[in-house]
Amino acid sequence: MPSSLAIFYGAVVTPVSVDNYAALPRALLCVNSSGLIEWVVDDVEPHRLQDELASKGLVDVEVVDLKDGEFLMPGFIDTHTHAPQYPNMGTGGQFQLLDWLEKVTFPMEAKFEDTSFARDVYSSVVRRVLDAGTTTCCYYGTLHLEATKILAEVINQAGQRAFVGKCNMDRNSPAYYVEPSPQVSKENTEHLINFIRSLSKPPFLSAPSHHPLVQPILTPRFAISCTDELLSSLEAVASSDPSLRIQTHISENPAEIEFTLSLFPKASSYAGIYDHFKLLRNNTILAHGVHLTNEELDLIKQRGAGISHCPTSNFNLSSGVAPVGVMLDKDIKVGLGTDVSGGFSLSILKTIQDASIAAKVRSINHREDSNIGTSPSKFANKPLPIPTLLYLATAGGASVCDLEHHVGKLEVGKNFDALLVSIREEGTELNPGIWGNGLGRPKAASLKERKALLDTQLERFLFGGDDRNIRRVYVQGKLVGGTVFSM
Ligand code: GUN
Ligand code: ZN
Repeated sequence: MPSSLAIFYGAVVTPVSVDNYAALPRALLCVNSSGLIEWVVDDVEPHRLQDELASKGLVDVEVVDLKDGEFLMPGFIDTHTHAPQYPNMGTGGQFQLLDWLEKVTFPMEAKFEDTSFARDVYSSVVRRVLDAGTTTCCYYGTLHLEATKILAEVINQAGQRAFVGKCNMDRNSPAYYVEPSPQVSKENTEHLINFIRSLSKPPFLSAPSHHPLVQPILTPRFAISCTDELLSSLEAVASSDPSLRIQTHISENPAEIEFTLSLFPKASSYAGIYDHFKLLRNNTILAHGVHLTNEELDLIKQRGAGISHCPTSNFNLSSGVAPVGVMLDKDIKVGLGTDVSGGFSLSILKTIQDASIAAKVRSINHREDSNIGTSPSKFANKPLPIPTLLYLATAGGASVCDLEHHVGKLEVGKNFDALLVSIREEGTELNPGIWGNGLGRPKAASLKERKALLDTQLERFLFGGDDRNIRRVYVQGKLVGGTVFSM
């Protein structure tokens, strides 16, 4: 057995399934020197703690003793964001997608030709994403090879788990920001893939582990920006490497869909375009899917692709409200995405809150639309319950990234990619409101009461918390972010 790296004693919250999570108020959890969870004991009373450790052959070991109001949970997984759009975050919400790309987004992305600008921006954004509790992130870079190499290096150095892609875009983009040919786009993509695969883990994460931290991902921006020739050459890259993840946008906005279908007149649908080029497969991440048809959803399910639900962006760019409940009823993989800067927050907590509101909007509209039938459903047209929101932000995201065997749950054999959350009010840096009203205080005694208290603390964190409540961020067992982290 690899030697122990850390032992935690206290409250643990972890998703079990799409509609259930485990709340363990007094768990004992051991992380080994490879950063994997070695064992978990669900409920250990304080007076049994030393005996329990001794039964594992552990004497005089240091235990991280969580205080009341603190709990461990899996790190957040952001299945869709754009690192180079960070300087624009919070602006541009007066536009819809196509105008927003032209007037706000492409001018900013073009600046990443300057590699020192790229390094500055990428260093800031990656630090903020980690401190917001995102332990795995799917990043779009720009079309630039050099800047995207820098992005991958910065992430690797910071110790974040990530997928990094450079945008493929050889048409319908301004002359100052477009790739000169499908050949150049393909060559640069292959170069980036090789570069990312040659990165070695930073020394502090070099414990024996077979899984790389940063991986490449094929990133055809969206069908509008890719010629048939480019999509064909990306098909060739993808089919030579079934493990290579793919990310793109789909069916985000009505004008985008209309333009897309006009460019591919023979295609059966938007999803059908990606499917034609064999880009729809079990490790494809499709951002948005706000307006997908029933047939497209069935095709996506059949191919095993996943959806990144980006509600903050969908509200901000007036794109619409994605039918996440329908997707879940169809057993399609769904995770959450911040989609900065279509979305105006780097935090998956904000995305959780907006995913909840989005589902409520759909349920309200459904209730008020007397023409819509009431076919039985588990999730469609209903608010999303807390266990489902937690799942989407963690284990759901892991399955969208094809990482479900590695991260997303705090269970034996998975990487310890985790957050130590605190809703205590000590310290001025914390968010004081959410511990108040006595709700966070541990008056409860029985296990059932302690579980109920933990349920409440989780809910208050998800809806009232922010970065200040994320004290420690761990990736593969190593502290890489949070309020107590200092470089
Ligand atoms: N579609 C194509 N590019 C983009 C982008 O950068 N952001 C969003 N939200 N949608 C896109
Ligand atoms: Zn996007």
